[in-house]
Amino acid sequence: METSRSTQPRMKPRSGGGVFYHLRRILFAAGVCAAACGAQLFAAGESPREHLSLDAGWKFHLGDDWPGALNLSKAGASGGPAAEKFNDNTWRTLNLPHDWAVELPFEKSADRNHGFKPLGPGFASNNTGWYRRTFGLPQEDEGKRIWLTFDGVFRNATVWINGWLVSRHESGYYPLREDITDVVRFGGQNLVTVRVDATEFEGWFYEGAGIYRHVWLEKTAPVAIAPDGIFVYSRFKDNVPSDKAEIQIEATLLNTLANTATAEVNCEVISPDGSPVANFKKSGEISRGSRQAVELESTISTPALWSPESPNLYKLVTTVSVDGKTVDRKETTFGIRTVAFDKDKGFLLNGRPYELKGTCNHQDHAGVGAAIPDALQEFRVKKLKEFGSNAYRTSHNPPTPELLDVCDRLGMIVMDESRLLGSDSENLRKWDDQIRRDRNHPSVCIWSVANEEFSVQSTPQGGNAARTMQSYVKRLDPSRPVTYAAPQGNTFEGVNGVIEVRGWNYNVGPGMDKYHAEHPDQPNVGTEQASTVCTRGIYEDDKRRGYVRAYDDRGIQDAEKWWSFFAPRPWLSGGFVWTGFDYRGEPTPYSWPCISSHFGILDTCGFPKDNFYYYQSWWTTNVVLHLLPHWNWPGREGREIRVDALSNCNEVELFLNGESLGKQAMKLNSKLTWKVKYAPGTLSAKGFDAAGKVIAESKVETTGQPVALKLARDLTGLSESLKADGEDVAVFTVSAVDAQGREVPTAQNRINFKLEGAGRIIGVGNGDPSCHEPDVFLPPEMRIVPVGNWRWKLESFPTHDDVSSPVLGAGLDESGWNVIKIKTGATASDKPLQENQTAVYRAHIKLTAEDLDAPDVHIQFSGCDDHGWYFVNGRLAGQSHDWREHPSFDIKKYLHPGDNIIAVGVRNDSGTGGLDPGVSLEISAKPSTVKWSRSLFNGLAQIIVQSSTNAEAIHLTAGADGLKPASATIGSHAAPLRPSAP
Ligand code: GAL
Repeated sequence: METSRSTQPRMKPRSGGGVFYHLRRILFAAGVCAAACGAQLFAAGESPREHLSLDAGWKFHLGDDWPGALNLSKAGASGGPAAEKFNDNTWRTLNLPHDWAVELPFEKSADRNHGFKPLGPGFASNNTGWYRRTFGLPQEDEGKRIWLTFDGVFRNATVWINGWLVSRHESGYYPLREDITDVVRFGGQNLVTVRVDATEFEGWFYEGAGIYRHVWLEKTAPVAIAPDGIFVYSRFKDNVPSDKAEIQIEATLLNTLANTATAEVNCEVISPDGSPVANFKKSGEISRGSRQAVELESTISTPALWSPESPNLYKLVTTVSVDGKTVDRKETTFGIRTVAFDKDKGFLLNGRPYELKGTCNHQDHAGVGAAIPDALQEFRVKKLKEFGSNAYRTSHNPPTPELLDVCDRLGMIVMDESRLLGSDSENLRKWDDQIRRDRNHPSVCIWSVANEEFSVQSTPQGGNAARTMQSYVKRLDPSRPVTYAAPQGNTFEGVNGVIEVRGWNYNVGPGMDKYHAEHPDQPNVGTEQASTVCTRGIYEDDKRRGYVRAYDDRGIQDAEKWWSFFAPRPWLSGGFVWTGFDYRGEPTPYSWPCISSHFGILDTCGFPKDNFYYYQSWWTTNVVLHLLPHWNWPGREGREIRVDALSNCNEVELFLNGESLGKQAMKLNSKLTWKVKYAPGTLSAKGFDAAGKVIAESKVETTGQPVALKLARDLTGLSESLKADGEDVAVFTVSAVDAQGREVPTAQNRINFKLEGAGRIIGVGNGDPSCHEPDVFLPPEMRIVPVGNWRWKLESFPTHDDVSSPVLGAGLDESGWNVIKIKTGATASDKPLQENQTAVYRAHIKLTAEDLDAPDVHIQFSGCDDHGWYFVNGRLAGQSHDWREHPSFDIKKYLHPGDNIIAVGVRNDSGTGGLDPGVSLEISAKPSTVKWSRSLFNGLAQIIVQSSTNAEAIHLTAGADGLKPASATIGSHAAPLRPSAP
């Protein structure tokens, strides 16, 4: 579908390209005034910087049907969807973030570790996805630098701007950023095309597929703060907080002008309560085409420190001016705190020992896969905090930036991990990007160079690479320690011998004490522990279905084993459980039909497993008393059932139907077990403090059969009134209740969901590691009906706006007309019209009443060289006056059942011209055909709803055969939209 003339992009020539940047640290003339003052902030509008979202309105196609697309022989020569003129009208429209892996069915022959999604070798048709989106740039932007940033694309992305290849980027976890100034058009539309190839995996866990993080368009002045060009951190004497925090700032500026610029950098620090507390500046020269770092420092008195318990956040406002004119202004959130690892006292936060109660996590949630909306990141971090977790390891890759924002805000220490060990230039470039991007986040307290690099970690070369990565950190970020997640083994070779903080994966026992005695100067941290395997609500193993009992006695370690070893050894610093949340893939100890892991303290939805209460008992100061299992065991009467109490009470007494089954004393970091002969009724417990006073009570009851559904809003980390910003989410738990309103813990009913109003369901889940039901129900596809059998004739007709002519209407004999010759793949030279000629094209299409019952019927043209007037049954549906357009019109109102006539009057201006091949009707599907559903798994399912940009109520209904339905209304309020590129 190309024309020779059309392939020449009409772009304005641009000046100032090919700038070679080099990094140089210069000491600017030190006009520093460090003072607490109330200096005026520059209003955002005064700076040319714009940070615009490119998340909305992408076209998406799964499949790699265009071999010419990767033609790299000449700039701008790529074909298929990479070419500007490609018509993507029939592709699906979606907003980012997007993960197409979650949309695929499960397939037994697919990779187990990636969750049996049909991706990777052997599934060629699912491996490549194409995304296209246009964005406008006003003429006034000419002269600015334009940057395009993808926070994460899984994986192997090729990016074109206006048909011109601008980037190839392999890793799915590192940001992709390009200065696209030279190839964009100002005063018009621009096209970004992305080919994503997920054929190769990077990890051994579910990784998703597609543009699963945000995309940004950034505009800056030619002299501006470089991307990730601000680094702010605090220092205290002896690394122990006092009344005086030294604030260190490194501002890297970029000058893309052809001349030296004299710039002034002004920094203002705003305290957590919003008042300015310091203002200081420096000025100096930046030579042309260079990138230079400016170092500034100041002090802040009585700083409010950041910690998980008090996540105080400061704001640095950096303003750059040239010749007295503001050229940039950027806000950077940061925190003031110190971190260190002590060989004896373990991790120190703000100078004091601080036990890490951490979890490792992959970016994966029920319903949405890797494409986690920002609000859901908040939900997840809050869920982790509920059981007392204070630390998060981004295993085994750099995280999504918004996760770090949430950890800063909510107070969650982060171990920020690289994807691979390696000191080659490519890996160091990625490491550089990761550190520069994440080093302002106060939540990030330690870097991890890699995880379990079995093949190389014990070699001298492994040691060399780790040393290089570690020194790289020290150069870019002197404020944080470095570790490596080392697998079992107590060796001091290779990486372990050079790493600053020794990381321990799955190790408990005397070997560790011995290691510590032999290497007393090396601090330690439990980088990865537990790998317990438990299925929520399951109390008997079921190998066939892939369920593991939740008594926590089937994993590499159990929660009690690792924690009771670590807790009394402060030098170990605490550690990170594998994992906080279940994730797709790694269904250990099973395989198909099991598709998800069982390691989580929470399942894939965030529903707590019993272990949640073990950690809550020993990681929080709440009084906890939890009993397991549930008490619905019909047919087991008189048989023994193991009952556990997870609690931090000094003693726990268990009762069955009011009769005591004995009181037991709780050991520190432990749990209690009874054998109980089953009888239906109430299993209850009382928890006592050291003085023998009852401080907690808990019970589980035998329930009746489900009679009704319950929809409960889970507001963890989410606001009750939904923000109508098209991004906010509401999470619901659906359960089945008996006649007394008690949740039935064994219910497995299939639930249907209906949503009405200003929102949409984006995913459903239930935490069942063997569930093969869809998480996502895609919108019904529109039907494409080709319009073929065209005839044409040179014919004049009036070409002003109120054009009308019998040759464009109905009731005409076309038997003498030319049969159209042009076919798919034709070029302009096949087109019949010469300069200044006009012609009429006509085609017939038969439609049924059912076709016309669709909400919309559009006609889609590939293009018209150069002007077209489009008629349906003699009525003008629209016009086009640019050969690059793909004209599309809503024509439902002009159609009728039976024969319909499409006529196009064409006028060609220059060269050869005519109507492009490829005309089709797009008959949309009825929205009512999308039916969301999910089965309860052991009583629960989750449904995630996303707002639209209309502040109107949303009604959600859940129904199931034989059960009384439940419904809920979600209120929403107008909220500012993220600034977006048009
Ligand atoms: C660890 C590994 C994790 C996960 C876990 C499962 O060795 O670091 O990524 O695979 O095993 O037990």
